[in-house]
Amino acid sequence: MGHTGSYADVYDAWKADPETFWMTAATQIHWFQKPTKALFDENAPIYEWFSDGLTNTCYNAVDRHVADGRGAQAAIIYDSPVTNTKQTISFNDLQDRVASLAGALRAKGVEKGDRVIIYMPMIPEALEAMLACARLGAVHSVVFGGFAANELAVRIDDATPKAIIAASCGIEPNRVVHYKPLLDNAIDLAQHTPDFTVILQREQEVADLNPERDFDWHGFQFGVEPADCVPVEGNHPAYILYTSGTTGAPKGVIRHTGGQLVALNWTMKNIYNVNPGDVFWAASDVGWVVGHSYICYGPLIHGNTTVVFEGKPVGTPDAGAFWRVIEDHNVKVLFTAPTAFRAIKREDPTGALIADYDLSSLQSLFLAGERADPDTIIWAQTLLKKPVIDHWWQTETGWGIAANPLGIEELPVKVGSPSVAMPGYDIHILDEAGHEVAAGELGVIAVKLPLPPGTFPNLWNAEDRFKSSYLSHFPGYYETGDAGIKDEDGYLYIMARTDDVINVAGHRLSTGAMEEVLASHPDVAECAVIGVADTLKGQMPLGFLCLNAGVDRPVEEIVREVVTDVRGKIGPVAAFKLACVVDRLPKTRSGKILRATMAKIADGDAFKMPATIDDPEILTEIKAALQDLGYAKD
Ligand code: COA
Ligand code: AMP
Repeated sequence: MGHTGSYADVYDAWKADPETFWMTAATQIHWFQKPTKALFDENAPIYEWFSDGLTNTCYNAVDRHVADGRGAQAAIIYDSPVTNTKQTISFNDLQDRVASLAGALRAKGVEKGDRVIIYMPMIPEALEAMLACARLGAVHSVVFGGFAANELAVRIDDATPKAIIAASCGIEPNRVVHYKPLLDNAIDLAQHTPDFTVILQREQEVADLNPERDFDWHGFQFGVEPADCVPVEGNHPAYILYTSGTTGAPKGVIRHTGGQLVALNWTMKNIYNVNPGDVFWAASDVGWVVGHSYICYGPLIHGNTTVVFEGKPVGTPDAGAFWRVIEDHNVKVLFTAPTAFRAIKREDPTGALIADYDLSSLQSLFLAGERADPDTIIWAQTLLKKPVIDHWWQTETGWGIAANPLGIEELPVKVGSPSVAMPGYDIHILDEAGHEVAAGELGVIAVKLPLPPGTFPNLWNAEDRFKSSYLSHFPGYYETGDAGIKDEDGYLYIMARTDDVINVAGHRLSTGAMEEVLASHPDVAECAVIGVADTLKGQMPLGFLCLNAGVDRPVEEIVREVVTDVRGKIGPVAAFKLACVVDRLPKTRSGKILRATMAKIADGDAFKMPATIDDPEILTEIKAALQDLGYAKD
């Protein structure tokens, strides 16, 4: 359903009467029982949406389309250059597959409200596992394959799943990722033990199964009664997705069922401008929020075909992979992270490979996940000759806070800006004291409560952390953790995180988590991790180590060990490869490490000497150490 009128009309209509706006959007969703109202604010500042409605995510994403005559349409197109496979799954097939998987999970005891962890690569079965949980009202938590066993163990202990669904392996261009041993290791490390696991055996690596705990994906579905969709309340948790915060303990972002259905469905037409039947491709991973919202749920809820791509922008086999997929599958909208385009641009700077493919199906390119640098945007605009739309969002929000809503009105693009606030988001730029700053001035970005449907109502098992991380600094607002600017036209510019989160190749990582790993090395007395600018990945982590007195081993050895430790404890996705040993870390007089100042020195940016610095001389030592690593160029 599209809106008539301009962006300004639609935004103003939402602001004037949010209740009517969201209740109207909710009419596009199937409800077993309609909600009586949109916003439930009785427990403010915890807000919920559509709480007294009854619905089911899987019904809306699958069964409804079969009932509406869309059964023969492709629901999922799987394209895997790393295994040389292409497969199309219609909505009819998807319904059968998901009902059978849900039936088998139920036969083993999984019911509404039980948690299920999903640890799978980019294969259709990952989406089927998510949808099967949704069918039963079970709460899934998908864990990205690039995390190490320890990170998986932390999530097992927090979510306490009844079951874990995994694949035997994942395939990275340079290696096979051994999921099953990683999973076994994680279960050993965790305090909580799931009742059982389900393993999808891939032909690239068949895992050893433990007959007491592990069931084969196909075998355990044999002869089971398929499961129907279980009606759940609008405020029933659809999933938990862990994301990085300031400390090593990840935050379990909760998504509620009703809000997610209404909001994602609204975005498909109004932001991305696709109609049911169109092919939508989010080249991300199911382990990230983009994968939840726009590989799995958004497109399927809206009756679109979604592409599941198991490959990379380069190297599988070349920098033409994205163009090939667009041509082969008639992709109308591509959504990816700027880092993917930087990788393509690096391999094929003139875009020569673009000419080899017919990209006439492509209507627009959407970018998110990290800052979209103007060079990359202009390169893509010039070569694709299609709108290139940056939009800004977070795991917490689940959908775009700011975007250029192509389905309502194509606003002029300002390169470097993800454009304007979407309906539902009342965005303010505040100073430290919580006062609004003038247009064009930098401040922290905060969103007036309540956040719209489809965002997070809380953190799993951590309401105090939810309030202290997001709501306490500026009462009445959600603090986004990003700093930025709003210009006179209401366009936003997202400048930097205000916390210790960095963004590496579109992946959100916690420097605090890496510091915890470095600090656990026996020779390390103190440490700090910062993000330094990287032309491909946007940012890269870089560690400073202060060693214990008396340690006289070669520093290269210690650096090698901490690099291995981070890979082993957090995972390859952390891309932690840079570290140096220094005598001291720069601190304020109260002992706070000046990470932001070190990051500015590393990037060669101008910085103001912090007034509270204890010993400015240390910055000279830091600069020298950074120069040895090729940073802090004058
Ligand atoms: N399972 C296991 N390991 C994974 C993984 C997964 N799903 N995804 C990445 N890794 C590994 C990689 O193999 C790499 O390991 P290595 O150190 O052995 O080489 C490491 O994690 C770092 O990966 P990445 O940061 O992705 O870098 P890369 O050099 O492999 O690829 C790009 C660079 C730009 C091609 C790649 O980052 C990319 O396609 N990015 C798109 C980002 C994206 O989709 N972000 C999601 C948010 S929208
Ligand atoms: P994640 O939760 O992994 O989606 O990461 C969210 C963070 O990524 C945001 O808080 C921003 O710091 C950054 N981010 C996402 N999209 C953009 C964008 N379009 N421009 C700038 N930064 C972005």
